[in-house]
Amino acid sequence: MKKKLLWMLSLFGLLSAPMATRADEGMWLPLFLETYNMERMRELGLKLTAEEIYSVNHHSLKDAVMIFGGGCTGELISDQGLLITNHHCGFGEIQAHSTLQHDYLTDGFWAMSKAEELPNPGLSVQFLIRMEDVTQKVLEGIDLETPESQREALIEQRTAQLARQATEGTHYEAYVVPFFGGNEFYLFVEEVFRDVRLVGAPPSAIGKFGGDTDNWMWPRHTGDFSLFRIYAGPDNLPADYSPNNQPYQPRKHFPISLTGGQPGDFTMVFGYPGSTRQYLSSYAVQSIIGTQNPNRIAIRDAKLQIIGQAMESDPGVRIQYAAKQAGVANAWKKWIGESRGLERLDAVAKKQQLEASFLEWAKADPNRQALYGNLLRQYRDAYEQWTPLELAANYFIECGWQLEPLQAAHRFGEFGRISEEEQLEKIEALANYPADHFKNIHLPTDQRITRAMLQLYFQNQTGAWRPAILEQLIQTEFKGELDKFVDEIYRKSIFTDPARLAAFIQNYEPSKSLKVLQKDLVFRLYEGLINHYRQIDAQIAPIEADIARLDRYYIRGLREMFPDKNFYPDANFTLRVAYGQVATYEPADGVVYQTYTTLDGIMAKDNPEIYDYRVPQRLKELHQSKDFGRYAMDGEMRVCFIASNHTTGGNSGSPVIDGNGNLIGVNFDRCWEGTMSDIMYDPEQCRNITLDIRYALFIIDKFAGAGHLVQEMSIVQ
Ligand code: ARG
Ligand code: GLU
Repeated sequence: MKKKLLWMLSLFGLLSAPMATRADEGMWLPLFLETYNMERMRELGLKLTAEEIYSVNHHSLKDAVMIFGGGCTGELISDQGLLITNHHCGFGEIQAHSTLQHDYLTDGFWAMSKAEELPNPGLSVQFLIRMEDVTQKVLEGIDLETPESQREALIEQRTAQLARQATEGTHYEAYVVPFFGGNEFYLFVEEVFRDVRLVGAPPSAIGKFGGDTDNWMWPRHTGDFSLFRIYAGPDNLPADYSPNNQPYQPRKHFPISLTGGQPGDFTMVFGYPGSTRQYLSSYAVQSIIGTQNPNRIAIRDAKLQIIGQAMESDPGVRIQYAAKQAGVANAWKKWIGESRGLERLDAVAKKQQLEASFLEWAKADPNRQALYGNLLRQYRDAYEQWTPLELAANYFIECGWQLEPLQAAHRFGEFGRISEEEQLEKIEALANYPADHFKNIHLPTDQRITRAMLQLYFQNQTGAWRPAILEQLIQTEFKGELDKFVDEIYRKSIFTDPARLAAFIQNYEPSKSLKVLQKDLVFRLYEGLINHYRQIDAQIAPIEADIARLDRYYIRGLREMFPDKNFYPDANFTLRVAYGQVATYEPADGVVYQTYTTLDGIMAKDNPEIYDYRVPQRLKELHQSKDFGRYAMDGEMRVCFIASNHTTGGNSGSPVIDGNGNLIGVNFDRCWEGTMSDIMYDPEQCRNITLDIRYALFIIDKFAGAGHLVQEMSIVQ
């Protein structure tokens, strides 16, 4: 290879690594393992064939992997439909079954027989039946000359048709997803099960041990798992919930190994990574670390401080805000880690170097010059416009849209535009809404949040960026007195009190009530902010469409520029394989992080004063008596381990598999130093965090006394 190209390759590789260390970066399509990955995976210790991992004709591991609840991954671990995923993935269901009397969040839940398993309306799991490259069919006759709008219309029509054809005469569902920025298209056919019951969950003091203090961090001691069971109709096919449904008998479930992983051992994560953006331009990365992340982080700092204080002071509020808080804190901490990691990697400069060589490469050939010569300038202009608009959108979402009173007002958003008949229909459907909505709201806390968010919105979006309605309400009508405005909202609005909202719904009379609605302060705020957002959206949509087109060209160009490099597509919540090894890392100069944690470490963190570190009594006893059964190794009870698999959000709950195809753990997080891997992977710093399956089995068997569940599984010693 020519010297120059080598240099450029290593540059691009430094999106991954120096060439020599073989960065096992990437989230690969199971369809192409044989072509791109098997050689390297075998070298690392994989004993399976590609067919054993993904096959359409034979039962393969893919038949045991599922999308859980639309945002996580789960995997089957028995021939009776038993599945394991994360505690934080089942959190919403566990919370929904919890009350102060039966507080499963705090105490855990274990079904001691199938009859005790709890149904979860709305929860479903999706198995991949097959995937297919349909690029040719989708893009037939479309070329570089095809106008964008026509291209889009054709693609929409063809993908819909392909999905329809793929499911005709079956009970399957199908969709087509763009890859590589729209340069390729793949069809996915799925089987969806809708009766999924809660089987077991450890107390949060195990399943969320370390809470948001330890979230995204290593060393970690979280027993982040929960168990569910899929039920099917008498024909073993998907069915709506019925007490007569039977446990689903799957084509495949994971055998479980009790030997764990040692440093250097092969690991593979098979699941559904949600979204990554490896091919962003330097302009995008600059916008993220210079503008978007700092603002989003500051807004959530304020939100979290208020929620945190309220939860600390009242156990009832703790339950109400548990899920909300976890959601707010999770992305907040991720953004912090991501920004730090990108800065540490000098990501913008690296992207700029790559862009410079891309430009040079383009210039060397007239065809390429015509296609790609202006690309970077266009990127620059697009992101210049995009940055303040995206920031305005972020303020709208974080400081406006997510406010609870606005969420309630949104239920009535279209009332001014629909007929009286339709209004009455909608009102009827809202009978239970006040109870549902206010169930998880503590009004004094909510008022504090609303106040803080509106203040940030008002302060930080100035001039033309400030929504007119904020100017009107706060500045003009309330003379700049934000406190008075917020007090008034919580004293009078229909949307800040369950009784007022219930009465409004019960006594709804079309034209009269509509007038009341339109005078309501919260409703006015809601309508004003929505209008503001519509304007932003109208401006940002064409810019984003333009950026999408540029991305398509840029990715195409990069693949042309590096014909020998295997590119992996950005994550898009389709099934992927990531492979790597159990591996240490150095988070800071002079510090080495080992690959696993133990129950001893949990005891060392024990602190009854700190909510996140309260170790359950029973766990202390088991630790004391060293009653670890066959789940221990060298006398130690291992809890979590780290490896170099490239993962992201959505991979939560994914099976972590050893070289023989046995389950050794359940993926649930990444180490903080490596959270920039959604944008730039660093083999030195990026580690996924896995719950050691033996700790889960120990908790199920020894802690919960639910050994009958372990009996169902296929344990290989
Ligand atoms: N960071 C993990 C993920 O992104 C776990 C989140 C749940 N845990 C928490 N403490 N909020 O989903
Ligand atoms: N906890 C994440 C999830 O829910 C996985 C962590 C990550 O982003 O890698 O999918």
